[in-house]
Amino acid sequence: MPPRKIIIDTDPGQDDAVAILLALASPEDIEVLGITCVAGNVPLDLTSKNARIVCELAGKPQVRVFAGCDRPLGRDLVTAEHVHGKTGLDGPDLPDPGMPLQDGHAVEFIIDTLRAEPAGSVTLCPLGPLTNIATAFEKAPDIVAKVQEIVLMGGGYFEGGNITPTAEFNIYVDPQAADIVFRSGVPLVVMPLDVTHKALVTKRRNDAFRALNTPAGIAVAQMTDFFERFDKEKYGSEGAPLHDPCVTAYLIKPELFTGRHINVEIEVTSELTMGMTVADWWRVTDRAPNAMFMGGIDADGFFALLTERLARL
Ligand code: BDR
Ligand code: CA
Repeated sequence: MPPRKIIIDTDPGQDDAVAILLALASPEDIEVLGITCVAGNVPLDLTSKNARIVCELAGKPQVRVFAGCDRPLGRDLVTAEHVHGKTGLDGPDLPDPGMPLQDGHAVEFIIDTLRAEPAGSVTLCPLGPLTNIATAFEKAPDIVAKVQEIVLMGGGYFEGGNITPTAEFNIYVDPQAADIVFRSGVPLVVMPLDVTHKALVTKRRNDAFRALNTPAGIAVAQMTDFFERFDKEKYGSEGAPLHDPCVTAYLIKPELFTGRHINVEIEVTSELTMGMTVADWWRVTDRAPNAMFMGGIDADGFFALLTERLARL
């Protein structure tokens, strides 16, 4: 099978960085057509800088990186420096990027790419708020039917939320955008907190990254060390969840994940539960299924894949 063509839409973020590294280390499975950046964990100027830092860390300065939307569709931007640090990539000491940002807006790149490629051949991989994707769908409705699949990190059901009691960060930051994407009719694969909270960077797994003794392996160990402090304290767990790499791991080894094809809708009205992913896990409504909502992961298999692929960089 030829590698799957993807666009990574991202707000790096240490876990976004690991997701990007996994994709760039896996050319036989994944062809990265471009990386589109969005405001999320940190403002857009930093996410679009961080994405380029990560491409250079992977030794792939030829990857095209675009800056996109700098704020959510209808709300003020909420960021997460309390988790990711001031730069969004705190932990390792990585050089400023030498590679340029591409000219043009990320949304235009998404639209142009989907129009140029054969229908059903491009997968979108959002790792942050869904602002760029929703904006592209609103501006160019003809591209919606051309998307092969959207595989995204966002939401949570049994685990509740991580930024409010009921909302996960990516969905909470731009619930209107998420609503547009979840209603778009594009086949969705969702990696919610229910999965990512089972993908914990334990000491043993962190040591395995560091033991690669390569710039990428050491940087990943330092990045995960950094954001671990916050999550370990918060959850009292033996390691922090590695959210976004679940998306790129799914593209390589979907059998690592289990879930249910169910209806998932986004709360966009109530301030109390704004951004909640209302997942009909128990199929108690007759609302049509629109998403493969994951719940289980083979965590050892996931970390083995990650470590093996990072070793190539
Ligand atoms: C998501 O929010 C961000 O902080 C992470 O990068 C991840 O995409 C987890 O809720
Ligand atoms: Ca992210």
